[in-house]
Amino acid sequence: MHSDIKEILISQAELEKKAKNLASQINVHYKNKEVILLGLLKGSIIFMGDLIKYLDFPLEIDFMDVSSYYGAESIGDVKILKDMAAEVKNKHILIVEDIIDTGQTLFKIVNLLKERGAETVEIVTMLDKPEARKVKIYSKYVGFEVPKLFVVGYGLDYNEKYRNLPYIGVLKESIYN
Ligand code: IMP
Ligand code: MG
Repeated sequence: MHSDIKEILISQAELEKKAKNLASQINVHYKNKEVILLGLLKGSIIFMGDLIKYLDFPLEIDFMDVSSYYGAESIGDVKILKDMAAEVKNKHILIVEDIIDTGQTLFKIVNLLKERGAETVEIVTMLDKPEARKVKIYSKYVGFEVPKLFVVGYGLDYNEKYRNLPYIGVLKESIYN
């Protein structure tokens, strides 16, 4: 275990098993459909890699990079840093996310994709922090629920570090201070 990590919440083996399990549910839903898997950068990269190996319908992958700004009323605003390349109109979009926290990022992106004419928009997230939710968002596929703690690894960062850890861990307090 990395010396900055206090505790491992979810092991590499559990994460990989869950990705496979989510993929088999997704395969049933999208059988014979043409789908764009839309990964949200950068947190979704490891999950995306684990998931697509087990998907067996015709798919394209694409990515979007967004950053959240929180105003005085704590209504999240989302800025698109890198837009997706694929045409969205009449397509089935499955958003691949690392974690749902307040829900604001996904709320904005789901609405944007609907405005662009997506046929369907669904979400698969490896982690969900339901206690942190500020806006209502429905994720059809959820890997694990986690408590309202800051977690890193499996794509998730703290100041751009720790994305490469193969497990989900909690950082030691001394790292924040
Ligand atoms: P939301 O709009 O508040 O749901 O923001 C979700 C985004 O915040 C995720 O895609 C992550 O990039 C980031 N995030 C939320 N919670 C954590 C965490 O515990 N560790 C690392 N990143 C997090
Ligand atoms: Mg993210």
